[in-house]
Amino acid sequence: MQKAFSTILCLCLCVTAAVFSGCGGASNQQSTVPAAAEPASADEIKSSEIDYTALVNKTHKLSDDWEKKLQTVHMTNSIGDDVEVEKKSYDAYLKLKADLEKDSVFVDLDSARRSVADQQRIMDEFTEQYGKEYALKTVATPGFSEHHTGLALDLYLIIDGKDVTENEDMVKYPGIWDKIHAKLADYGFILRYLDGREYITGYGYEPWHIRYIDDPKKAREITDKNITFEEYLGAYKGGKAVIDYGTSTLYSEEDLKAAAVQVACRFASFGGCELRSLKYAGDEAVSTEKLSQINRENPGRNYTKAAEFLMDFYTTENPGDTTLEAFRDYTDYPWWLARTDKDGWEIISFGN
Ligand code: DAL
Ligand code: ZN
Repeated sequence: MQKAFSTILCLCLCVTAAVFSGCGGASNQQSTVPAAAEPASADEIKSSEIDYTALVNKTHKLSDDWEKKLQTVHMTNSIGDDVEVEKKSYDAYLKLKADLEKDSVFVDLDSARRSVADQQRIMDEFTEQYGKEYALKTVATPGFSEHHTGLALDLYLIIDGKDVTENEDMVKYPGIWDKIHAKLADYGFILRYLDGREYITGYGYEPWHIRYIDDPKKAREITDKNITFEEYLGAYKGGKAVIDYGTSTLYSEEDLKAAAVQVACRFASFGGCELRSLKYAGDEAVSTEKLSQINRENPGRNYTKAAEFLMDFYTTENPGDTTLEAFRDYTDYPWWLARTDKDGWEIISFGN
């Protein structure tokens, strides 16, 4: 199911290098010349007006005045695609890249700054190709993508001289990502979408998506505490939630994890809600009658499997755009998911 995010992005965003030659671009496969220090220019002064700790996520939109303060550069990656990046983030990236090369780790930039129109194209393609559920946990709603800031960079790997750009291929190299992640903070970057924190970030694990925050000390603190940017900024005050897959003869833990990630990503979009626990309701919750009911209510889908999850959480002052009440504890809040034999989990209902 998961396929070619970066390739698709490239299709969407590819602009020939020639168009941008002279815009500060650099083709930099497997060799790097770190940017030389220069006196502060008008561009740098403009760039320094940016709030490098700005939070953009499913419930925090990019500020309206961001564009006029943003200073970007263009580079050409090893595939020949143009990538636009915020200026200081790019300088820091070049230093990170050079450091990684000392350990024979080679990376390049797949995507960085994206316009709202770029993001809309990606969202439309993903929704069309993989369905709405998958798109929502993988692609930010236009206007709510950290990529709009120019401070979010999607890396790809170059292994034995070959570009490894597709998601399902990149995740096969956890050891290489560990080496990359270990160095991020030294250059002012953090890993943004952590495994197991989907209920906070709203997105599945993305080892390639790094975020520049212009402060190695803060980045080191976030990394060492193993917290999300939301938690660091106080935008998520809840504790670490317990996710319990229970025991199942119907589903593997991997399958249940995929369902739980789907639920967690949707939950994060509610806003103002903090998760205590999420647990698989057990095989006994799934009956032939329930599956028939789901199929009756969703004509044409022909689901073959269903699963129920139960969630404990509480709401804060601002419960977001759901029907949830403020300052309330919710226990055993139900979520039903279903899947066909070929597609991933889809959320069928929640809360009733
Ligand atoms: N893939 C990240 C969440 C984005 O689309 O911004
Ligand atoms: Zn990204």
